[in-house]
Amino acid sequence: MKFIYLADSHIGGSDSAGYCQQERSLRYARDIFDELRHWLHEHPEVDFMIHGGDMADSGTGANILQAKEFFAALPCPCFLALGNHDLTETDSLQKWLQIVPEFFPEQQTDYSFLQGDVRFDILTVHWGKQEFFWDPSEAQIPWFSDQQFNQLQKGLCGKRRILITHAPPCGLPEAQTGLQNPLHPPAGNFETILQQLAEEYSLDLILGAHNHMNLATRSDPAWLVTSSAFSETPFEFKLFEINDKKLCMETISLVNQLPFRSSYDHQKSYVQGRPCDRKFSENDPQTNISSTQNSILP
Ligand SMILES: [Fe+2]
Repeated sequence: MKFIYLADSHIGGSDSAGYCQQERSLRYARDIFDELRHWLHEHPEVDFMIHGGDMADSGTGANILQAKEFFAALPCPCFLALGNHDLTETDSLQKWLQIVPEFFPEQQTDYSFLQGDVRFDILTVHWGKQEFFWDPSEAQIPWFSDQQFNQLQKGLCGKRRILITHAPPCGLPEAQTGLQNPLHPPAGNFETILQQLAEEYSLDLILGAHNHMNLATRSDPAWLVTSSAFSETPFEFKLFEINDKKLCMETISLVNQLPFRSSYDHQKSYVQGRPCDRKFSENDPQTNISSTQNSILP
């Protein structure tokens, strides 16, 4: 089974404001999603898409309607995990469920589903005092409620398990960035919580986002992966193949197919990462050997 994972599209946002790691091209959002649609038409073997949050730059009805138009045009089912930017209004949660219920199985934003032998758990991580609402003035400390922890215990047996939530599972390693400390780790004890969940439930993979950077590292028993922002140069997403014998990931860029030009800050090529930060295969240790060379970028 194959699926793609993208994150941090920030639909409806500005190209001149807001957190980003590389140049944003939101004025060309339609072109970017058109190209993703073309890519999916050329890869009919892809079973579905998961978006790891911050679909919208703010959780307004207009932005959610725009996201609906882009995702509904894709030739595969879509599953969404809400990010902090998706929940900026007190009624954002209700709006997502009203406008795009088709992207939330059983009309829940915390949900689990089986595809083949693989169990997927999607949880909307909370960031401040109030659940399902993000106040940008509050410190960002990701957490799950007891109800969400319980969700992981419910039914559904798969031979493999994947947890998807918008917060990054850890910081980028120093070997990737050349910095003195891990870059952009989650605040509080979230990294420890995820490690405990990985061990308790034998998770194979934790998919995060929010940092707008590529990460692929192993913390037994799970792989920890984040993606650079889909709306930033070079417009990347992940392609996963997973079954009971195989787990592999590669990073796909749309930059060369898009009809507009965008710039890239080569001083921050760690955002795209080394080959080992962009691709792995559980069964092929050769692809997991660390390289100090960052990838060649536009
Ligand atoms: Fe975010």
